[in-house]
Amino acid sequence: MILTVTANAAIDKRYVVTSFDVGSVNRVKSAEFSAGGKGLNVSRTARIAGEDVIATGFLGGHAGEFVQEKLKAEGIREDFVWCSGETRSCINIWDESHHTQTEFLEPGARATQQNQDSLVKKFTELAADCSVAAISGSMPEGCTSDLYKRMLAAGKKAGKKVILDTSGKTLEECLDDHPFMIKPNIDEIQMLVGRKLNPDDTKELLDAAKELHARGIPSVVISLGSSGSLMSCGEGAFQALVPRIDAVNTVGCGDAMIGGFCTGIARGLSMPESLKLASAVSAAAAMTNRTGFFRMEDMKKLEPLIEIRKLR
Ligand SMILES: Nc1ncnc2c1ncn2[C@@H]1O[C@H](COP(=O)(O)OP(=O)(O)OP(=O)(O)O)[C@@H](O)[C@H]1O
Ligand SMILES: [Mg+2]
Repeated sequence: MILTVTANAAIDKRYVVTSFDVGSVNRVKSAEFSAGGKGLNVSRTARIAGEDVIATGFLGGHAGEFVQEKLKAEGIREDFVWCSGETRSCINIWDESHHTQTEFLEPGARATQQNQDSLVKKFTELAADCSVAAISGSMPEGCTSDLYKRMLAAGKKAGKKVILDTSGKTLEECLDDHPFMIKPNIDEIQMLVGRKLNPDDTKELLDAAKELHARGIPSVVISLGSSGSLMSCGEGAFQALVPRIDAVNTVGCGDAMIGGFCTGIARGLSMPESLKLASAVSAAAAMTNRTGFFRMEDMKKLEPLIEIRKLR
């Protein structure tokens, strides 16, 4: 079983408009609503890969019930902490004429200290039956990185592998709590090591990953979009090369990659094998319009084409 944490879940609303004009009435051609939030993308991709998943985090109001129903329909178990506010909406507007994407991300309803204590307790209980957990994305108002730090500590105490995929100050502040894996993209790794890195310079990137290792993080994966990824872990340093594909939506590919890693770890695969699976899942996710989703047939076709090279 895989446990996922989505502290800032959302209803993702995708609007398609003929033309998006600021300051005027815009008629929406089609609207699509789905359960969103990075941890839910992880849940969905691991579920599609065939794993049993239980999702936790915060939900609230009717929007929270909508998310709950969507998860049920997708075969994802859930056990959330219910807050008094309404789960947020994130709106993504696709302008067909200009091929532009405009996003509105609500901050999310406040989680009280009591809500946060309940989530740490729930995480601890649920993690007992899981082989791997992933904490993803941002937190709603009222939370500090202390929430993630407490879950990381609980996971560690129970001997569980906890992956942390967040950004900014939260990611930085949680490094000393030693998540089992982090998966920074190029912006995130630059922020963590405090210097500019050349995305084409493998040595420079691996040195940065090593610095994070030295701080006690067993697996550091740097994701590089269409250029694949680099992984430094106990089994060595590896590069994953992905084939050239027809990418239609790369938002959430990192989440799909975490879903793939969770799947590999839950199956007891080695880290390089898990990297191969995670690369196939994330590249397949880039081939569909739906965020945090992939087709099994795309993944199966891509998997043999992913090249894993041992570097050090
Ligand atoms: N255009 C692409 N072609 C093939 N594979 C891709 C492409 N974009 C992303 N991927 C796959 O997805 C992985 C993660 O992508 P990326 O580095 O963009 O993550 P990210 O920035 O964390 O994304 P997000 O936070 O939106 O989920 C890559 O390492 C690669 O395996
Ligand atoms: Mg990411």
